[in-house]
Amino acid sequence: MDKGKVFITGGAGFIGLHVVEQLLERGWSVRIFDNMIRGDRDRANALASGGEVEVIDQDVRAGAAVSAAMKGCDRVIHLAADSINKSQADPFSSVDVNVVGSHNVFASAAELGVQRVVYASSASVYGDPEKLPMHEDDPLSPITPYCIGKRTGEDLLRYYERRSGLSWIALRFFNVYGPGQKTTAYYTSVINHFVNRLRNGEPPVIDGRGEQSMDFIHVKDIARAVVLATESEASNAAINVGTGIDTSVAELARILIDAVGADVEPQFNPRDVLVSRRAADIVRAREMLGFEYSIPVREGMTDLIQYEIAAAAR
Ligand SMILES: NC(=O)c1ccc[n+]([C@@H]2O[C@H](COP(=O)([O-])OP(=O)(O)OC[C@H]3O[C@@H](n4cnc5c(N)ncnc54)[C@H](O)[C@@H]3O)[C@@H](O)[C@H]2O)c1
Repeated sequence: MDKGKVFITGGAGFIGLHVVEQLLERGWSVRIFDNMIRGDRDRANALASGGEVEVIDQDVRAGAAVSAAMKGCDRVIHLAADSINKSQADPFSSVDVNVVGSHNVFASAAELGVQRVVYASSASVYGDPEKLPMHEDDPLSPITPYCIGKRTGEDLLRYYERRSGLSWIALRFFNVYGPGQKTTAYYTSVINHFVNRLRNGEPPVIDGRGEQSMDFIHVKDIARAVVLATESEASNAAINVGTGIDTSVAELARILIDAVGADVEPQFNPRDVLVSRRAADIVRAREMLGFEYSIPVREGMTDLIQYEIAAAAR
């Protein structure tokens, strides 16, 4: 069953490798385009040796390379990006990769007439939400160069839709976690911080009362949403991908203590913290993509801890 070929930038990264696995299961062949700055080269090469995956070690900032490599592909998934923390340290690089690089991908896709572009946008385009759940039509107020770049990416997709009839979906990922994530990942650094303390027999320390919250979504669910968006009849919209549930930092600490099986209580560090909360409105994802999350946060976090314990023992 050969459905056609998907061109995936950032396909050797954390989310990308999960997407590639699900694309292969569904009968797509895959061309990964990744400069390997944070990609897993060994995993990508292992996939390539299986024959269904090609790996092109190139940079999205090189427009001619993007266009040449995209030839012969039916659909495009664009995940390559500079991370949110790098965007504060190096805004020039962030704009180059996330704005110029994204434009190279979208312009090539429009020029080559690919059937669909799926773009990894981010919940951070909303800025600090005024209300929960966060709906796709809420005002956008991106704060960092990363968030500004993600919003610009969505605007560029609308431009190529108007100009060339490009068919696109921008997925606004909420807080993605799961096996394979780098320990420096910004949104989920709180998970690593708590787990490292628990491993050393120390209780997690929570700033304030731990009321700040995130909408944690497992990477396998994110990958499924990406594949659905690649294949769906519906298009030309930004769509949230989250669970719709805001998990507070205090709840997260409790889940991780239980998962590790530690006999400790969280410690609270009384100080004023800005309480930000996040939860996705998930109606559009259900209506347009037929997507609903399948892995509850307690189950997904417990699996992640088991995976990490097993990996540490290897
Ligand atoms: N992880 C999250 O919580 C989250 C949340 C919202 C949005 N996103 C977005 O999802 C996408 C994937 O994120 P991830 O967590 O898998 O990140 P990641 O860093 O693991 O993967 C990004 C991949 O892109 C590659 N890459 C980076 N710069 C490149 C360039 N200039 N040219 C070619 N390849 C390049 C890297 O080598 C890496 O393999 C990104 O666009 C990210 O902004 C992630």
